Amino acid sequence: MNLGVIGLGNMGAGMALSAARAGLPVWGYDPATRAQAVLEEAGVVLVGSIAELAAQVDVVVLSLPNSEIVEAVVLSEDGLLRHARPGQIVLDTSTADPASTLRIAQALQDSCLRFVDGPVSGGPKAAHAGAMTMLLGGEAADLQTLQPVLDALTGKCVHVGPVGAGHSAKLFNNLLCGINLIAAGEAIRVARAAGLDIEQILQGVNAGSGRSGVTEVNCPTWILNGAFDSGFTMQLMRKDLRLAAAMIEQSGASAPLAQEALRLWADSSASLDDAEDFNRIVDYVEPRQ
Ligand SMILES: NC(=O)c1ccc[n+]([C@@H]2O[C@H](COP(=O)([O-])OP(=O)(O)OC[C@H]3O[C@@H](n4cnc5c(N)ncnc54)[C@H](O)[C@@H]3O)[C@@H](O)[C@H]2O)c1
Repeated sequence: MNLGVIGLGNMGAGMALSAARAGLPVWGYDPATRAQAVLEEAGVVLVGSIAELAAQVDVVVLSLPNSEIVEAVVLSEDGLLRHARPGQIVLDTSTADPASTLRIAQALQDSCLRFVDGPVSGGPKAAHAGAMTMLLGGEAADLQTLQPVLDALTGKCVHVGPVGAGHSAKLFNNLLCGINLIAAGEAIRVARAAGLDIEQILQGVNAGSGRSGVTEVNCPTWILNGAFDSGFTMQLMRKDLRLAAAMIEQSGASAPLAQEALRLWADSSASLDDAEDFNRIVDYVEPRQ
């Protein structure tokens, strides 16, 4: 199975390297990749256009910043839709807008192309290790065809429903992560102000029902040690949370806690730059009015 990867950034470069290491022939396209030398050394063939990539591969993995760019890469004049061959499968690992995903999947289906959404967790480290967690939206038969790619890129896959469900599940995941980061930031501030040892307090929390991915993973790995080097930026998290906000609004359901957390994330942009690590939100305190 020949694999193409479009978008060779923090995540896509790691995926291309993991696929090459697993023995898949890999082609890559990204006009601005920072990883050219390491990719070429690993045997990834870098090409100068989507057309060149589409001519070589059976499966195209997308790892792009947002849905606008995914739509441009798939649907534009020089995009995949124009150059792909019937039967090819597009696996979109970007964190993206489910409504856009459904439009893209429909356009591809009209041209006998297949689409699966497979947004990922684990960050650049897991992408480089071939150990990401992937939430898959699509047809079971397409997932079966993708198995060699999934084996190379992931440690865990969860099939969460039809096309679009993967991107929706990812937005719920990141919404809960965003809420949990704000909650953990408050707990850390309160514990420190009370003169408590936060590391010991967290050990207690992690033995109880108040624990979360944030208290178990983010706090020891990136927050309490001051590293803040997860590889996932404020900019990407803010994008995901804007998409989550739209999802809540479209649903019409009541979600006041989520809305308050989303407001804090949005307001934080006045003092926390987009380039900062997303875990920095734990330090955000609203300026007094
Ligand atoms: N970084 C993380 O920890 C992480 C974790 C989970 C999910 N994600 C998601 O994965 C996706 C990629 O994230 P990332 O951190 O690798 O971002 P990134 O900015 O490091 O990489 C994106 C890459 O896409 C390339 N690109 C932009 N427009 C392009 C185009 N038209 N054609 C080809 N390439 C193009 C850029 O040059 C860049 O190299 C995002 O949707 C993000 O939300 C990231």
